[in-house]
Amino acid sequence: MAVDYTTRDGIAVITLNNPPVNGLGFSTRLGIVEGLEKAQADASVSAIVIIGAGKAFSGGADITEFNTPKATQEPTLHTVIKVVEGSAKPVVAAIHSVAMGGGLELALGAHYRVASAGAQIALPEVKLGILPGAGGTQRLPRAVGLETALNMIVSGAPVMSEKLAGTGLFDHMAQGDLLDEAVKFAQKVGAQSGPHPKVRDRKIEHPNAEGFIQFARNGVTPLAKNFPAPLKCIDAVEAGVKLGFDKGVAVERECFVALVQTPESRALRHAFFGERAASKIPDVPSSTPVRKIERVGVIGAGTMGGGIAMNFVNAGLPVTLLETKQEALERGLATIRKNYESAVKKGRLTAEKLEERMALITPTLAYEDLKEADLIIEAVFEELGVKEQVFSKLDQVAKKGAILASNTSTLDVNKIAAFTKRPEDVVGMHFFSPANVMKLLEVVRGAKTSKDVLATVMQLAKKIKKTAVVSGVCDGFIGNRMIEQYLRQALFMLEEGALPAQVDRAVEKFGFAMGPFRMSDLAGNDIGWAIRKRRYQEKPDLKYSKIADRLCETGRFGQKTGAGWYDYKAGDRTAHPSKIVDEMIVAYSKEQGVTRRKISDDEIVERLVLALVNEGALILEEGIASKASDIDMVYLTGYGFPLYRGGPMLYADTVGLYNVERAMRKYAAQTNGEAWKPAARVTELAAEGRGFNS
Ligand code: 3HC
Ligand code: NAI
Repeated sequence: MAVDYTTRDGIAVITLNNPPVNGLGFSTRLGIVEGLEKAQADASVSAIVIIGAGKAFSGGADITEFNTPKATQEPTLHTVIKVVEGSAKPVVAAIHSVAMGGGLELALGAHYRVASAGAQIALPEVKLGILPGAGGTQRLPRAVGLETALNMIVSGAPVMSEKLAGTGLFDHMAQGDLLDEAVKFAQKVGAQSGPHPKVRDRKIEHPNAEGFIQFARNGVTPLAKNFPAPLKCIDAVEAGVKLGFDKGVAVERECFVALVQTPESRALRHAFFGERAASKIPDVPSSTPVRKIERVGVIGAGTMGGGIAMNFVNAGLPVTLLETKQEALERGLATIRKNYESAVKKGRLTAEKLEERMALITPTLAYEDLKEADLIIEAVFEELGVKEQVFSKLDQVAKKGAILASNTSTLDVNKIAAFTKRPEDVVGMHFFSPANVMKLLEVVRGAKTSKDVLATVMQLAKKIKKTAVVSGVCDGFIGNRMIEQYLRQALFMLEEGALPAQVDRAVEKFGFAMGPFRMSDLAGNDIGWAIRKRRYQEKPDLKYSKIADRLCETGRFGQKTGAGWYDYKAGDRTAHPSKIVDEMIVAYSKEQGVTRRKISDDEIVERLVLALVNEGALILEEGIASKASDIDMVYLTGYGFPLYRGGPMLYADTVGLYNVERAMRKYAAQTNGEAWKPAARVTELAAEGRGFNS
């Protein structure tokens, strides 16, 4: 049963009981209405309390029902709220922990609201690309005032209940047991004669409401760029201010229906569920026991090690940081301090917290100091020989049950695991640079990695606020394996007729944070060069344009050398198109006997994105990723893929796999077409009319 009904001292108590967050799905909605009807019919009941069981009052409408018949099946949330508001007996919403979206809208439909401190109050719909669709844009401004409401609706950010205590939202703040106090409150108002107050009847108070709305619109427009929802939120609130409650609700409804169909909303919902789905590993049940992680060791205090250490320290976990030389250790610590100092300067951290965090780091040159660590992450030079030294040593000193992780980005985690006598405790933890900032963590599952190690690392990832995605062992794991195909296409297009600035511009217009050439200049062109040199040995038949090698031969490694695909001025990261490079590219095409042609921006985007999609499909076929949304999460959180498109695999679904396959076949017939054999998964799904996510 999604809703429980009981009575207590003359009060009907309707308890939402739909774990995990009392989402207002069909059966919950039905249960509420049935409960209200029962209460009306019971002469011994004077008032009604609606409360949530478990960890929320309600997290809102059930998002999984969106775009399904259940979402509109009566009683809809509108109907439920109408019944609540129209109840002859007063309804009291008793709020604890979470009242979000439709949950808050339901509470706003009640005649009274009692809340505990510490409850998160929000209308977060905008984060899902929609707006509050059950009267929230109309009732919240009437309850908390126009400015607070508009801020909450447009940002979607939660506000703690105690902060809203002085507003018209709450009639009573519970100090003790919420249900006890709500029942008492209900007895009091139940004894009063009606009619009981309705939020909809209140006025929106503001000295210059229209001016404020215009001000809000001016501020939001440039920020909302590719997301239609924030401005629609303002439209709906404005309609309520100008035209009154009923017309405001009609505008809200219209906007909601339009937004829920948009690809942007689909993408945002995909990302919401994708993030949560990523932590679920098909053969690792949620009941898998986890190991206790209280002390962390990090080996190597370079670019990655320092950032990795910061993640744990930020979460309050002490870190022992090991280096080979005192000098390297000091350099690493100085960089960490500098990063924290810059956060202090920006007002994001207090000077006191900075010292607290630095104090959690124990620097050392001795492996013995790692013997207490529950998790040890290696971030030393990317050479198998060095990894062997480190892991053999760890095998000797680490305590039994400690998790041994490698941050390797290209090496075989199974080989690394084999350097120990406990391969089941070894796992890849592939952080992205800068490791203290980037959300993505690829958790690389070795052939022998035990399930409890995986479960522990996935749980720990949440604690350090990373989006963790499991990848099987393969060259480049999920993210870098795909980006290699993307970069290969980018280079082919230079050879065929495009120039770096055009390619970057086209992809950035599509929404990528950075085009391939600006990205390579930032990462260092020598890194790709080293990978290609390896590929020439390993896969001599695989065709690569040698144009990037030419660039590297001239020492143009990117920003760090002041020149790469672009020219840079000292101390400035702005990329200036380079005449020398452009001439070099044109000369290279000539040398290869290629007649340069004009390549459209559409072709650039299509080839780059579909290169990701095809490799992603192979990754799914091989079981390297267990689901398409995992790949999308990698690209959204680690590679700057536009959020409003939901990741490469969802984008392919949006385009339709039939069209994707056709485009691949078209490119197969062009110059450099041998990369375009559609993956079997693409062909199969296209033939069945399905998508990666269906
Ligand atoms: N519908 C369906 N499932 C939901 C949900 C919702 N509204 N909100 C959360 N869930 C699910 C999650 O998918 C997750 O499922 P899983 O355990 O199977 O992975 C589970 O609840 C727990 O979620 P979290 O891992 O996020 O748990 P937290 O405790 O960290 O956070 C929360 C709880 C603050 C409620 C957070 O889940 C959240 O922000 N949810 C989204 C709330 C939201 O956007 N509500 C608006 C919905 S749209 C709406 O109401 C439209 C209306 O205006 C008409
Ligand atoms: P780095 O060169 O900045 O740092 C490596 C550090 O390890 C140096 O400070 C060095 O003194 C130390 N070190 C070397 N051998 C050691 C040993 N035996 N014991 C203890 N310390 C030792 O390298 P970076 O960039 O931090 O890379 C480290 C690892 O992270 C590599 O495996 C790399 O592939 C991986 N990685 C790097 C990313 C990046 O963008 N730089 C991204 C993701 C992974």
